[in-house]
Amino acid sequence: MASTASTHGAEVLVASNRGPVSYEVRPDGGGGSLHAKRGGGGLVSGLSAIGSDANALWVCAALSDGDREAVRRGVGEPGVRMLDIPADVHADAYNGIANSVLWFVHHMLYQTPLEPVFDAEFRRQWASYEAYNRAFAQALAEEAAQGAAVVVQDYHLALAPRMLRQLRPDLRIGHFSHTPWAPPDYFRLLPDDIAAELLGGILGADRAAFLTRRWADAFTACCHEVLGPGIPSGTRIGVHGLGADADFLRERAHRPDVAERMAALRAEIGSAPDGKARKTIVRVDRTELSKNIVRGLLAYRQLLDDHPEWRERVVHVAFAYPSRQDLAVYRDYTAEVRRVAEEINSAYGTPDWTPVVLHVKDDFARSLAAYRLADVALVNPIRDGMNLVAKEIPVVSDAGCVLVLSREAGAYEELGEDALTVNPYDITGTAHALHQALTTPDAERAERSKHLAAAATALPPAQWFLDQLRALDG
Ligand code: F6P
Repeated sequence: MASTASTHGAEVLVASNRGPVSYEVRPDGGGGSLHAKRGGGGLVSGLSAIGSDANALWVCAALSDGDREAVRRGVGEPGVRMLDIPADVHADAYNGIANSVLWFVHHMLYQTPLEPVFDAEFRRQWASYEAYNRAFAQALAEEAAQGAAVVVQDYHLALAPRMLRQLRPDLRIGHFSHTPWAPPDYFRLLPDDIAAELLGGILGADRAAFLTRRWADAFTACCHEVLGPGIPSGTRIGVHGLGADADFLRERAHRPDVAERMAALRAEIGSAPDGKARKTIVRVDRTELSKNIVRGLLAYRQLLDDHPEWRERVVHVAFAYPSRQDLAVYRDYTAEVRRVAEEINSAYGTPDWTPVVLHVKDDFARSLAAYRLADVALVNPIRDGMNLVAKEIPVVSDAGCVLVLSREAGAYEELGEDALTVNPYDITGTAHALHQALTTPDAERAERSKHLAAAATALPPAQWFLDQLRALDG
């Protein structure tokens, strides 16, 4: 057993596929200059909460050519180590296994008459997934101080905890899943040895944590079914329901660039024939197969059929931002979103009314503008680890919004009581909920929205992260 503890190593380490910074090579006449772009999100604010004095390190993968070039040139941000895993190994691990198998299993997305198929090609990609996880385990083992805390993130890195435990038994290791966890019958679509390896990998951690009790219970149930009763390793199971960052969102949503976008959106939305402002049904998603954007559009069309009185008086503002465009199934899904939106616009639109305002280019300021204008927020995923949009819109909306929420989103556990909940496959039911939401009296809407915002901000990102670190001490 190799112990490679460095005396000056990091005390707190985070490991995730996507890191807090990415690089782009821009042509400048020479070899090209590198431009760094910093990302946001729960982990970024969580890690900043432990303060700059803390000896922290984020280990992530180089994802783009720019990232790889940065690693080769030795360019980097303090506190970040990017791993230059060979591009083909990364592609197999990330696109092949993590996004095309594990994501599909946990979100229950397969069309089972024809898929999944676990053949020789799958086994080849699985070997890359193991190599990718090993690269992370080795880097973490090299970088961690004696007894350091390491928090490994998500389904990309399910094997890394056990690999790291073998290299460095002294470390306190946590694993956090940001996705749902599949129930045993679905998880067991995976070949038995693979299912056992995934569970055993996470059980290499001292603590395995999830966004909701439901996903934690599903993980425990899979362990019982696949590995036998009990949690063999003694790994503790935890739940930390990541909340919205109210201070950041409210400040950011009142900057001039958001005001500009609100004006532009208002112009796109227009006014009803009686001169009153049109109502808005807002959704903002990365275009993932699990987000159920197409059924959301179908429910909106059903609403216009069932309640023609809403025609010209409502607009569905749908932002569907690009995600995982290397995968054909994602590209096809994006095309289907566009097709259905255009179909609705040509069937119902008038010279003065565009029923669906669809944007597909990522623009955070415009998302916040839509949040502020939302009368109704539509969050109807097939299945979702949490869904932060469901938490963010009530915090930011100017006049308060009614949330139409899928009971399959993790956020349902915390927000279900004050939302109108829907079965995401039920178009008629969702159309009915949209009508109810649009007809909710202003006072009730404001009251519901206040409760939603309070529940949504109960565990801000910094606290969410610190709680996980504290729990690793116990
Ligand atoms: O939203 C769930 C999630 O797994 C996050 O944990 C993670 O940041 C993201 O999806 C991964 O997305 P991408 O493939 O774009 O890096």
